[in-house]
Amino acid sequence: MQIIRDLPALRKAVAGLKKECGKLAFVPTMGALHAGHMALIAEAGRKADHVVASIFVNPTQFALNEDFSTYPRREAEDMHMLEKGGCALLWAPDVETMYPPGHSTTINVTGVSDGLDGAARPGHFTGVATIVYTLLNQVQPDIALFGEKDFQQLAVIRRMVRDMDLPVEIDGVPTQRDADGIALSSRNIYLSKEQRIAARALPRALGEAAKAIQEGGDIREHTERATDTLRRAGFDPIDYVAVCDAETLESLTSLTRPARILAAARIGQTRLIDNLPVIPSV
Ligand code: PAF
Repeated sequence: MQIIRDLPALRKAVAGLKKECGKLAFVPTMGALHAGHMALIAEAGRKADHVVASIFVNPTQFALNEDFSTYPRREAEDMHMLEKGGCALLWAPDVETMYPPGHSTTINVTGVSDGLDGAARPGHFTGVATIVYTLLNQVQPDIALFGEKDFQQLAVIRRMVRDMDLPVEIDGVPTQRDADGIALSSRNIYLSKEQRIAARALPRALGEAAKAIQEGGDIREHTERATDTLRRAGFDPIDYVAVCDAETLESLTSLTRPARILAAARIGQTRLIDNLPVIPSV
């Protein structure tokens, strides 16, 4: 696996891979890799001839009160995992490379980024869209893969790629879960043993609500019930539990089209997010 940290070397390496022919798939990450990321790498390998990954902990998607400085960084282990997973190239730039002096251009995707995490974390999706746009421009992949765990992020990126007519296919990969149902996340390491047990309430509450709504239950009643389950498990605050259109993320009050139930809530100091599909019966 080639490990590249500067732009001229990246351009040369990408040109080299493209000359070898075949498709190039890209998996952008912030490192601290787990089986969820490796599922993206594996899927990328099935979809393309060469897999490129990036590791960059993007400062602009963290608010001042968030965990940028403590976000887990494990580059040596990450490299080992990527190499084992069949990744051909790792793009690992530093902050000055991604945000050169005087950097003043941002990508702001309105609508789909306004609610949910966009409301709870002002500026977050501008940071995400700006860095993903830049990474896509640098790596020039045929396909880029993102986890459905960050469902709103995926919707924002799809919107941006469509609006800016970027020549890349965006693929969403289903959330990977531990045996207890909790979605894999680099932030799960922050949970104590007790918090980890309590956190099982999140996938359970969403699963129960999704099932009930699919069977004709009232959206408001079942999102309130899920919120209550989370509160009783010790989540506080609960930023949202909402059922939204699966593409635009507009909030729904009845299940008239494919939807997603999404939630974000804090247990202790750790903010967890999760989501599940809610499909109307035909
Ligand atoms: O999902 C992530 O790890 C990040 O938000 C991403 C897409 C790599 C952008 O920094």
